[in-house]
Amino acid sequence: MLLFVISSCQTEQPTIKYKSVKEIAAKEAAVVTAHPLASEAGLKILQQGGNAVDAAITVQFALAVVYPVAGNIGGGGFMVYSGEEGDMTLDYRETAPSQATEKMYLDDKGEVISRLSLDGHLAAGVPGTVQGMWQAYEKLSKLKDWEALLQPAVDLASGFPISSQQAGLLNHFKIMFDTINGRPTPFTKETPWKEGDLLVQSDLKQTLIRIQKLGAKGFYEGKTADLIVQEMQKGGGLISKQDLADYKAIWRDPISMRYKGHELISMAPPSSGGIALSQLLNSVEPYDLSKYKPLSTEAVHLMTEAERWVYADRAEHLGDSDFYPVPTSNLTDSSYVASRMNGIQMDKARISEDVKAGSFEESEQTTHYSIVDADGNAVSITTTLNAEYGSKTVVQGAGFILNNEMDDFSSRPGVPNLYGLLGSDANKIEAGKRMLSSMTPTIVKKAGKPYIVVGTPGGSTIITSVFQTIVNIIDFDMSALDAVSTPRFHHQWQPDRISYEQGFAARADTSALSKMGHTLRKRSPIGRVEVIIVDKDGLQAAADPRGDDSASGY
Ligand code: DON
Repeated sequence: MLLFVISSCQTEQPTIKYKSVKEIAAKEAAVVTAHPLASEAGLKILQQGGNAVDAAITVQFALAVVYPVAGNIGGGGFMVYSGEEGDMTLDYRETAPSQATEKMYLDDKGEVISRLSLDGHLAAGVPGTVQGMWQAYEKLSKLKDWEALLQPAVDLASGFPISSQQAGLLNHFKIMFDTINGRPTPFTKETPWKEGDLLVQSDLKQTLIRIQKLGAKGFYEGKTADLIVQEMQKGGGLISKQDLADYKAIWRDPISMRYKGHELISMAPPSSGGIALSQLLNSVEPYDLSKYKPLSTEAVHLMTEAERWVYADRAEHLGDSDFYPVPTSNLTDSSYVASRMNGIQMDKARISEDVKAGSFEESEQTTHYSIVDADGNAVSITTTLNAEYGSKTVVQGAGFILNNEMDDFSSRPGVPNLYGLLGSDANKIEAGKRMLSSMTPTIVKKAGKPYIVVGTPGGSTIITSVFQTIVNIIDFDMSALDAVSTPRFHHQWQPDRISYEQGFAARADTSALSKMGHTLRKRSPIGRVEVIIVDKDGLQAAADPRGDDSASGY
């Protein structure tokens, strides 16, 4: 558990205390995020009568300050909303700059130039976060006080004490920050960071004040836009004034699905999350998973075999539907899903090489937060810079980090991206297009009302972690904290293996799975799931124990 008390006499800063709370029971409202200070900021807005969207806006900007590894104003994300205004989703994913081209990361021989889509200025897409928050505010805010919603972030930018995980990450990436920026940044210092050190972000504070005063124009026009374009010119990046002025977030219909009597809504393309989750749940629905134990050989095998074909489809068919005809209804059709599960044996693994994408006649770091307000409105948001600290490019004078989301495009068919994901024409780079995502912010409804609010970071593992958490709650009847804490496993078609985290092997029978033909490999922790369950007794909120994540509520 984290506990910081910085007294004002030592630091000349206001006293900032925080501790990480992993599980709460609340009567009215709850918020779970990757950082205790962001959860507390969101909670205060809810207590002041703000709705879930108001709290989400406050959390998004607070995370941009206190969780710079993934919280952002230089990145993008997706919001799923269910409440008084209906069901809707907002796509504030980054776009490829207008100068971007299909072959921009290839050398003369057509080979991918290592890390060009990941490190530095050329890796950045046009950020969507501030437009996303602004459009969400205009449509759904109850408080109607933008300035007040941003104030916690402005205050926190004066300085907050970092956790030991944060100190470790900042130290780990110091050389990259130095190399890419060629000057000191707020994220680097001469001596190593340690727990409790204050992270002071004065330029970011001024940027936030401009956004606070001018709304989205405080980012996409004027001084902030000038600073972004100047930064691009220094490092060969492509984002132009026009790209910034043109950026719009897009309201999209959710992907709706049913699972064992529940109705779910999740994100449509340019995220693959909603379609893939629908395919996964639909694949296992005919099976009575509840007769198996969680992490039993049968449950792991079945879920893995579904994951194998779903990721093969993702590689072939998914991309930004504004640029490519994604066959959504074919992919989520129940007889198609049944045909893809056909032939699966309960005692034998399939081989990924034998599993191709279906065909049709026509055709650690991201962050998630879940919020439910006192009126039962729910918001599920996953937002990202892509890799840890994105492209590591800090906009000089503006104090924020730019994403490296361009790597989520397929730089060349058959060449895996950072997460080992393959892609095709559907996800090739085109000017103005949005790169394919795995982010899967999801709301499960029961009797028409939000029941589970869930999501996670984790690159390609996002979809399977959301899948596993939903199965843990619905099929295995777990509490929110158990659902989040249970060890996770993941298969993504290629590479052909089940990757699993600490704790899995102690509970699952890895030798039985190997005998069936599965290859297994242990890896680092998978995801940071934040979940709220709304049931008849109130709200259960659980923050992932794998990080500093924290739940608040009242
Ligand atoms: O949109 C996506 O799918 C990725 N950019 C998400 C990256 C991510 O989750 C990294 N976190 N571990």
